[in-house]
Amino acid sequence: MAHGLRQPITEDRPLLERDEELQAIDQALAELRDTVDGVPQVPRGGLLAFTGEAGLGKTTLIAAVRARAAALGFTVFSGKGGENERGMAFRVVRQAMQPILAGMSETERRGFLGSWYDIVGAALGLEATDPARVPDPTGVRDGLDWVMTRLTMLNSPVVLLLDDLHWADAESLDWLASFAPRVANIPLLIVVGYRPDELPSDATSFRTLVERHEQRPHVLSPLGEAGVARIIRDEVGEEAEDEFCGECWTVTGGSPFEAVELAIRLRERKLRGTQHELPVMRDLAAAVKGPGLIERLKRLGPGTVRFAWAGAVLGGSFSPEVAADLAVLGSEEALEAAEKLRARRILADTDEPAGNLEFVHPQIATTIYRDIPAGLRVGMHNAAAHAVAPGPRRRPGAC
Ligand SMILES: Nc1ncnc2c1ncn2[C@@H]1O[C@H](COP(=O)(O)OP(=O)(O)O)[C@@H](O)[C@H]1O
Ligand SMILES: [Mg+2]
Repeated sequence: MAHGLRQPITEDRPLLERDEELQAIDQALAELRDTVDGVPQVPRGGLLAFTGEAGLGKTTLIAAVRARAAALGFTVFSGKGGENERGMAFRVVRQAMQPILAGMSETERRGFLGSWYDIVGAALGLEATDPARVPDPTGVRDGLDWVMTRLTMLNSPVVLLLDDLHWADAESLDWLASFAPRVANIPLLIVVGYRPDELPSDATSFRTLVERHEQRPHVLSPLGEAGVARIIRDEVGEEAEDEFCGECWTVTGGSPFEAVELAIRLRERKLRGTQHELPVMRDLAAAVKGPGLIERLKRLGPGTVRFAWAGAVLGGSFSPEVAADLAVLGSEEALEAAEKLRARRILADTDEPAGNLEFVHPQIATTIYRDIPAGLRVGMHNAAAHAVAPGPRRRPGAC
């Protein structure tokens, strides 16, 4: 059973140079089972952290945990931080817990939560935030501990996947830091992914939790030359020359994200990986991110650029209709824009909810977001706030 966010965009691609991480995942999942080879064990929860800068493969490893957990019949809850959602109190916790609570009838929910309902109801988005009644933060944390523990016991074993925690709201991070040490005694495995350099400086309790935990974070390394060569040859063919592949490794810095995107573009251009193609390869690599990406986007025309900007403002998985409204595009123009952005591997379809779009990688979203002229960005955010339900915001005065 899987609750929460859909799986990220994954293509069937072998996971290279991550044997140690996969071993740690398998071991953590084995400890979570209540029997191993028919011998009863005490199920043990745990915490696994994958860290590294954008594009090194954190989400891919989290997807691997999801697939393995689902194959074992474990329950999966998931949530992730959003670049523009840090200000929404308890947003990440809510994503993880709400789907299962939302599946209950109101009576079941009240029965399940009992006296905690009034304390955690607003944090979990079960009721509107009443500004006149501010629940005591310790009470909310205790209530969330209770809800997570109970959900775990009822659905055990449970795997809680929390990605992009460098963008998580402070309330979710604080709760996680105080709750996680307890999982050793319950059948709950928490798996987190984040960019350590982008964790907010005040997330000290979360940072201390993961860095001092007996299972130190798995710091992902860039791929070696052989890994990048494999990615290139998988797309363009085995005959790609060693020197060409070596140069691809140099220009991508071993980033799996950049290597995969480059390899796909090489294939689309029907390149073979020969030395005389090196200049074209360098141009294609430069267009994957940063100014090269923006240049490529601008060539798609102003309507398409505005549609991409609107998507970046909406963030995560977004509705093309809402993006069309923000971009002030008619439905035909919006369809055309989405098609162009799909074809250039800037946007991709999501399957849950069907019909939504998302950026192929958050790094693409960030680059495009930063390119939006400041005044327009504010206007689009204002329009977006009216177009989508915002969920409970942080209390005024709280930081
Ligand atoms: N170990 C790996 N081997 C091959 N491809 C990988 C590996 N890790 C990630 N990728 C590919 O790189 C891209 C970016 O990975 P992702 O997990 O989104 O990075 P992150 O979450 O760290 O930003 C994806 O296309 C993914 O398929
Ligand atoms: Mg990621």
